[in-house]
Amino acid sequence: MNPVTDAIASRRTVKKMDPDRTPSRADIRTIIEAASWAPNHHMTEPWRFIVLEKEARRRLGEALAAAMNAGPIPQPQERLAKERDKPLSAPVIVAVIGSPKRGEGILPQEEMVAAGAAMQNLLLAAHSLGLATAVRTGAHSYSEAIRRFFGMGPDEALVALVYVGYANGAVAPGKRTAAAEKTIWLER
Ligand SMILES: Cc1cc2nc3c(=O)[nH]c(=O)nc-3n(C[C@H](O)[C@H](O)[C@H](O)COP(=O)(O)O)c2cc1C
Repeated sequence: MNPVTDAIASRRTVKKMDPDRTPSRADIRTIIEAASWAPNHHMTEPWRFIVLEKEARRRLGEALAAAMNAGPIPQPQERLAKERDKPLSAPVIVAVIGSPKRGEGILPQEEMVAAGAAMQNLLLAAHSLGLATAVRTGAHSYSEAIRRFFGMGPDEALVALVYVGYANGAVAPGKRTAAAEKTIWLER
């Protein structure tokens, strides 16, 4: 038994959250702190976080639905209404934003990798505290309208919207291809 690998393997995406339980701000601060311990080249710490609670989730839902409606594929009203309500399914949403720095030797790709690692730290820290998380995105989440919603700079990119709460009911087991099938070993 290894608590780290066990936590990694037992973390699951949880979409059904208990509407009556809200994570404490202390716990949200803890998971964001954990996120910021991600490795990052040149110590650029290329991330920032926006926490949405209460009515801010409603504003996000409206922005997501509008962004979806403005997208290339026309969406029926029911789909837009569903998108509008989606952020209300979790008591807290943490937007993880990749905020790359510029400078000698700093590579955009490495900055986004580091921001992704921050997101995974956040998910795992939440899991360790008994919190449920779901990463929820979709093409419209990366639109100009959502960039404006979060006040993102031209170099920034949304890594993910992480929905945080407590699971409502049992969580289904996960599934992965055995890593051995995707691994080769080189000795020379
Ligand atoms: C960048 C990213 C975006 C994701 N966006 C969505 C999403 O929009 N909707 C969704 O249901 N799941 C989304 N997921 C979650 C995956 O569906 C989920 O991780 C996958 O099904 C594996 O399940 P697990 O997290 O329980 O292991 C996203 C995951 C990542 C890493």
